[in-house]
Amino acid sequence: MTERKSLNVLVVGGGGREHALVEACGASPLRGKLIAAPGNPGIAREAACFPVAVDDVPGMVQLARSESIDLAVVGPEVPLTLGLADALRAEGILVYGPGRDAARLEGSKIFTKNLLQKHRIPTAASESFTNAAAARQYVSRRNLYPVVIKADGLAAGKGVIIAANYQEADRAIADCLEHGAFGEGGQSIIIEDYLDGEEASLHLMVAGNAFVVLPTSQDHKRAGDNDTGPNTGGMGAYSPAGVLEGDALQEVIEGIARPSVEAIAAEGLDFRGTLYIGLMMTGTGPKVLEFNVRFGDPETQVILPRMASDPLALMHDCARGDLTRAEIELRPERALCVVLAADGYPGAYRKGDPIEMPEIRESDAFIFQAGTAKDATGRTVTAGGRVLGVTCLGKDLATAAAAAYALCGKIRFEGMHFRRDIGARELKRKK
Ligand code: AMP
Ligand code: GLY
Repeated sequence: MTERKSLNVLVVGGGGREHALVEACGASPLRGKLIAAPGNPGIAREAACFPVAVDDVPGMVQLARSESIDLAVVGPEVPLTLGLADALRAEGILVYGPGRDAARLEGSKIFTKNLLQKHRIPTAASESFTNAAAARQYVSRRNLYPVVIKADGLAAGKGVIIAANYQEADRAIADCLEHGAFGEGGQSIIIEDYLDGEEASLHLMVAGNAFVVLPTSQDHKRAGDNDTGPNTGGMGAYSPAGVLEGDALQEVIEGIARPSVEAIAAEGLDFRGTLYIGLMMTGTGPKVLEFNVRFGDPETQVILPRMASDPLALMHDCARGDLTRAEIELRPERALCVVLAADGYPGAYRKGDPIEMPEIRESDAFIFQAGTAKDATGRTVTAGGRVLGVTCLGKDLATAAAAAYALCGKIRFEGMHFRRDIGARELKRKK
């Protein structure tokens, strides 16, 4: 491999995912200047933070220019769907993250469904609608429950309704198409068959037709233990995911990942970034639930700590469209992350409470900050729904879980809550 010069890197975003990205970039031998926007107090310990909002495309471009950035790593989907990567590339700045065109893979479920169906990649049978009467007709004709109704566009994780019967489906159709419950993103919907099975996700780093497979992971989307309560952005994760080991992983790579990457390239989409494939492992094989065009959060908080290969070097390769490696090296440990949330999350939540947490000195434990801020007196306080991500590595999952929960026991803020069963299903399976 040729000697590389150090890179000035901008990480776009300010959540737990971006804190994990900043830690990974900070540990890289390629690291030059490292900045983040908007960042957060945890990120600020490693990288200078600039108060530019993630959806401020001109502001972000201006920042990248004035700080002589070589490579921008974009965390969240919103700036990608707004064309941040295109705007930065137009200035000659390398970007890890797709342009607006390819970001439609996350921004439009109909666009993705059409691509999956055209290229015969396994996914739930579905149809798309803008007309409520036609949608109702489809549901009653198909007569299969539960049935899944999805807003086409971004809906901050809330645009998916699983309807148990015709009445619930009818209400969901009315909410989306007649009452504008999801705004513009809900003007078109997809109605698809319900898939039964266990969810898992596979993250790929992609550059055109080339890709590497990142460690597998499983998120915990529901707010409460035993997968009860409302959906959230994710309350914890572990890696690797047992449902995606061995033959199952090979089946997903050859049957889904490779054809998806090839289909995206064949459609003329310039994809340089993370392709996150959300999967349902069904009795009739793995099927695609969704694509995201960025790292998952909290999944990133277990994926990056398990990588022995340098994530920054890989992202740089992807951004240049020069990914020649086919495989990455992993650390042998397992990882588990518990998200500590503010009182009320995923609904309206408390803010401004001081956080007590220990200094981390170990190399196998991380407190990733997400919804945090500094108050006027310089204390770190809560400022978001998901406040912290506590990740520990361990020789096996049980060790990682015990270490993560022990560390959670040393952290305090008013109204703090978290799931007690992250990884529990996997631990039972291992016995
Ligand atoms: P999506 O944004 O499409 O991934 O949907 C969000 C969540 O809804 C997924 O993580 C699943 O838990 C659930 N979901 C989506 N589509 C289906 C489906 N066809 N069958 C069962 N569950 C689904
Ligand atoms: N944790 C789910 C996501 O990042 O989409």
